[in-house]
Amino acid sequence: MASKQTKTRDGFASSVGAFAATLGSAVGLGNIWKFPYLTGSNGGAAFVIAYLLSVLLVGLPILVAEHLIGRKTRLNAIHAYGSVVKGKKYWSLIGWAGFIAAILIMAYYTDVAGWVFAYVFKAIGAAISGTTLNSDTFNALAGGTWEPLAWQFVVLVITSSIIAAGVSRGIERVTKTLMPVLVVLLILCDIRALTLPGAFAGVEYLFKPDFSKLTGNVMLTALGLSFFKLSLGMGTMTTYGSYMPDETRIVPNAAKVALSDTIVSILAGLAIFPAVFAFGGSPAGGPGLLFNVIPLIFSKMPLGSIFTVIFFILSSIATIGAMVSLIEVPVSWMVEKGRMKRPAAAYLTGAMMFGLGILATLSQGPALGNAKIFGKNFFDLFDYVSSNVLLPLGGLAIAILTGWLLKKGEVVEELSKGYGTIKPRYIQLIYIFIKYVSPVLIFIIILNGFGVIK
Ligand code: TRP
Repeated sequence: MASKQTKTRDGFASSVGAFAATLGSAVGLGNIWKFPYLTGSNGGAAFVIAYLLSVLLVGLPILVAEHLIGRKTRLNAIHAYGSVVKGKKYWSLIGWAGFIAAILIMAYYTDVAGWVFAYVFKAIGAAISGTTLNSDTFNALAGGTWEPLAWQFVVLVITSSIIAAGVSRGIERVTKTLMPVLVVLLILCDIRALTLPGAFAGVEYLFKPDFSKLTGNVMLTALGLSFFKLSLGMGTMTTYGSYMPDETRIVPNAAKVALSDTIVSILAGLAIFPAVFAFGGSPAGGPGLLFNVIPLIFSKMPLGSIFTVIFFILSSIATIGAMVSLIEVPVSWMVEKGRMKRPAAAYLTGAMMFGLGILATLSQGPALGNAKIFGKNFFDLFDYVSSNVLLPLGGLAIAILTGWLLKKGEVVEELSKGYGTIKPRYIQLIYIFIKYVSPVLIFIIILNGFGVIK
């Protein structure tokens, strides 16, 4: 974020830049890997509907709230939450929880990102030798020891170096140009997948709900995914809000980000599930779903092996945009606290992430596969604690802080920036959502998900 350090504070140069950066954080493994894999293991369409509702009723309002706190304070997340309401310094606790969430998320996110990077090279190898990548390829990679660790290390070195050099804006530029290409490739996958014999069962799986599948835990997972998808509940979007120019209209920007991000997820689902059913696989394929299905779809296309390579290259780039935004949260705090230079903060954060990351990665193979806490291996545990516990609780706290502790006038004033004298009505509406609808829903879903209420 600091490609051009000014006397005051660095920021996005324009509203378009702010949009690109926000979307760059939102779009990542969450769309192409996590959304399909969770939809597959949580019963399909009913989960998708719960997810869409939670983006609309909870995710979007919290995204707005985070941006507004960030821009109002123009501080890193921890300081922002601690100072947005005078005399209530302890709200910086949200930022601390976010700090922990960032490290837990990155611990397993970088494992998966490592698989994506590795797949670029495996896809090139397969293209040269004229073979197709299959589930053995994936199992050997994810279940290995040194290979996934090496890739995870590479991923963290690249991401930390980008943050250290302060060139993340360059990454946003790259993401902005390449994201449309990724979308085109996804559409190509969709067309191929949807025209396979037997594909329709996959469309039904994605859109024809069986509401008996909606248990409390499934709803909590859908809520957690909506937070994860929009990078909410831990300060990323607050930090990005702090870089936003005053002319950016926060509400429409957030709405565009939520919509675009959702479209990318649905496009990924429309490639994967029809193909899964057409090839006779199981939708509950777990974390390997993306890696096993995408090469298969492309193998049924002319020049498919080249498209597979391009697909994984573009996915790697999208992933970097998301990871940069995760590392930025702890780093911006360390730097603004004034104790540390940007490179040191970036590598220190990267090292912490690698420390826990080793546990996540090795828990996918024999080395730590049997180590379970609460019945979950480290990979699943980090995912569960971050997405299903810390992010929703963070979101709840952010909603309360914005809706109940800030004055309504302050909220409306921040959201009205960028307009002329006529303030659109939806600002009132989104305020009601931030104040009442989102926190109540989060509260109910959390209690329900933990089995406290039915
Ligand atoms: N939203 C990203 C994705 O879908 C991941 C991500 C980036 C994230 N920053 C975050 C998730 C902050 C939670 C919190 O891949």
